[in-house]
Amino acid sequence: MKIAEFEKIEEEMRICTKCDLCKTRTNVVPGDGSLDADVMFIGEGPGKDEDLQGKPFVGAAGRVLSELLAEIGMKREDVYIANVVKCRPPANRDPLVEEVASCWPYLEAQVKRIKPMLLVTLGRHSMDRFLPGLKISQAHGQAKRTKGIWQEKQVFLPLYHPAAALYDPRKKSVLIEDFKKIPLILKKLNVTS
Ligand code: URA
Repeated sequence: MKIAEFEKIEEEMRICTKCDLCKTRTNVVPGDGSLDADVMFIGEGPGKDEDLQGKPFVGAAGRVLSELLAEIGMKREDVYIANVVKCRPPANRDPLVEEVASCWPYLEAQVKRIKPMLLVTLGRHSMDRFLPGLKISQAHGQAKRTKGIWQEKQVFLPLYHPAAALYDPRKKSVLIEDFKKIPLILKKLNVTS
């Protein structure tokens, strides 16, 4: 898929009215980062700051994500960051099943374009979309090679959501340790960047 086609998908997202989240959003938050990224991060959905700025992970959780990336020598521009739903659920409630389903083709198109070697899910809701039936307390930090979107089998790494570190300092230590697995997995996959 060419860049122009990716931009077309983003344009579609920006005018999307497939679910009721369009009625309360300020901006659609399609995603951000390098279209050539080896690693794609997928969060749950935009919060207040993201809704205002139209960019993913720019609030408090985003600052934690940038810190965690810095710990492993990566920058936001090196990766691609998207969300399961592209519009903010009111009062940051969990996205509804029908909202996730309406937004799924957009996420699928993004993954097919980026073709990430490693797809990192952030939080339970994102993990459930790709690796259903797992418990995040047990599955976090363990890479899984399973049914993929752009490849028959793809490598996934389920992690806690960076926002968890804001409320629980122990989760921050866990996130730091789990993030260290990202360069190791890339090395195993022979990704040199
Ligand atoms: N939390 C998310 O899951 N996504 C964002 O973009 C911001 C906060």
